[in-house]
Amino acid sequence: MSDFIPGDILEPLFAAADVEVWDGGGHVPRATLVERLAGCSGWLSMLSDTIDAGLLDQVPDLEVISQMSVGVDNIDVAACREHGVTVGHTPDVLTETTADTAFALMAAAVRRLPEGEALVRAGAWGAWDPWHFLSGDLHGSTLGIVGMGRIGLAIARRARGFDMPVLYTSRTAKDVPDAVRVGIDELLRGSDIVVVAAPLNDETRGMIGRAQLALMQETAFLVNIARGPLVDTSALVEALTAETIGGAALDVTDPEPLPPDHPLLGFANCLVVPHIGSATLPARRGMARLAVSNLVAFSKGEPMPGWLPGSAPQPAPDLSSEV
Ligand code: DGY
Repeated sequence: MSDFIPGDILEPLFAAADVEVWDGGGHVPRATLVERLAGCSGWLSMLSDTIDAGLLDQVPDLEVISQMSVGVDNIDVAACREHGVTVGHTPDVLTETTADTAFALMAAAVRRLPEGEALVRAGAWGAWDPWHFLSGDLHGSTLGIVGMGRIGLAIARRARGFDMPVLYTSRTAKDVPDAVRVGIDELLRGSDIVVVAAPLNDETRGMIGRAQLALMQETAFLVNIARGPLVDTSALVEALTAETIGGAALDVTDPEPLPPDHPLLGFANCLVVPHIGSATLPARRGMARLAVSNLVAFSKGEPMPGWLPGSAPQPAPDLSSEV
């Protein structure tokens, strides 16, 4: 297991298998990981682990990986399939929490909360002025959701409460009241806020680049709650510098972590938080519990609740006791 999980959540795993917990702090260095995974049939991994063919070649006993995240862009799923490794992840349990984060970021960015807070802390809070520190409104703004998966849908549901018309992109039409499915260009042109909620893969990497940012309105905000590399960082820095967009709010960046001297941190209208979209105790406990359940189910030959399609199949259920 390559990170710390609370003991009560681990109980079912301790009961089902011999478990080795990494207690070295931080993330496991690759060489140590290979050493410690030798002879292991299962691994509870984190999104910060790089899981590729090179690693899988070195751990031939591995049969199952259960990752404590919904995003699996750190995993070469095809290589797992080729190596006969079944993969589990943790969808659903973080959906609502991450959608809350999207709204928190939107509200903070649109209403300029970080700038206001910085001003107060700097002792620059002067007399109340009716024309000071103005911003746009969140309610009534047109929201463009790039990627209408579970989290996109949860964001769209919240948008109704804020009277926000919704545009969205998705490979398939979704049954979302009052939301309109459009192409990406139309979404970028027509949205006051663009929230990126797509999975990261070879098709989506860099999908918000210079050409896409150029389509956004001068007052529009870009919010990323999915994965940093979906957005071309240099292009975003250029757009913020040229003031061709209104601002950005990022829970995820490329690179991650963002170095303190990174240009993105030089803009008052670019809010950055450290990949905390699902970082509430209930969500993280739910993720840990599901990651453990995946391994326990696999060890018993039962269907994994969070099996990842495209990875090696799950073990066939044992029907020997059935008549
Ligand atoms: C995930 O589960 O993919 C999230 O990014 C973790 O917050």
